[in-house]
Amino acid sequence: MAFPELRLGFIGTGTITEAIVTGIVSGAEPAPEIFVSPRSAKTAAHLAALSPQVTVAADNQHVVDVADMLFLAVRPDVAEEVVRALRFRPNQKVVSLIATIDHETLRALIDVPVNLVRAVPLPFVATRSGVTTIFPPDPAVEAFFSRLGTAVACATIEEFDILAVASALMGSYFGIMDHIVGWMQSKGLPQESARRYLAQHFLSLSTVAFRNPSTSLADLRREYSTKGGLNEHMFAEYGDSGGLDALSHGLDAVLARIQTR
Ligand SMILES: NC(=O)c1ccc[n+]([C@@H]2O[C@H](COP(=O)([O-])OP(=O)(O)OC[C@H]3O[C@@H](n4cnc5c(N)ncnc54)[C@H](OP(=O)(O)O)[C@@H]3O)[C@@H](O)[C@H]2O)c1
Repeated sequence: MAFPELRLGFIGTGTITEAIVTGIVSGAEPAPEIFVSPRSAKTAAHLAALSPQVTVAADNQHVVDVADMLFLAVRPDVAEEVVRALRFRPNQKVVSLIATIDHETLRALIDVPVNLVRAVPLPFVATRSGVTTIFPPDPAVEAFFSRLGTAVACATIEEFDILAVASALMGSYFGIMDHIVGWMQSKGLPQESARRYLAQHFLSLSTVAFRNPSTSLADLRREYSTKGGLNEHMFAEYGDSGGLDALSHGLDAVLARIQTR
């Protein structure tokens, strides 16, 4: 399905903008016009080289001026300074990807009544396989991210915040893998063999969880743990030594950070 938006604009040409733009221009259908901010010259030039539809704008304001759907994709620490300096059009569609700044704060920074939506895309939008949470529900933004994978429109901000916490597990996922591979290596297995084994193993486990939504995860754990066997032993040791408590602590802390803003 084609992208009906006339012109897309991106303020902040970093990791997530690169992923979104790559996803947009990778399809067989015609891409819309895309304007990216110029500051991150290398990434901007790379995106412009991907498609003639991508233009590196002269400055941030030019991106705002031309965009029918404008994405805010700068880091939270510079967001106030960057957004305050821009002049938006009344009713302009603005999609903020900035994880820790709420609607109220953004509205105050933007200072004209815009059509404001928050979204949390994941880097997998680059291959059109990313799940993106959206709040409030917005048909145009949902349609946009549906073309880059799956769009999940949240009915409440609480739901959106909880999914944002889950989206923050990417670093932990690779960190846990790295820790396990490091342990396997320390016991004598070559790093490459350890990593290949673990990546395939986790992929298979995720596939089972994904393909069996009606089987509870607790049941899957029991099903994949022989009574008195190694898997049961591992999970008991993990819980007894504070692994599950540490996970709950991290989830609570990130939710509190998202909700404090
Ligand atoms: N990465 C993800 O998976 C992900 C997912 C969902 C949402 N997000 C959100 O998206 C936002 C961007 O994340 P990111 O990972 O893409 O960060 P990033 O790679 O650091 O990209 C941010 C970009 O903004 C640029 N920038 C800084 N000041 C600017 C200015 N005045 N005008 C224009 N651009 C400016 C930065 O340039 P310099 O490097 O030169 O400072 C950088 O290239 C964050 O708020 C994050 O919470 C990220």
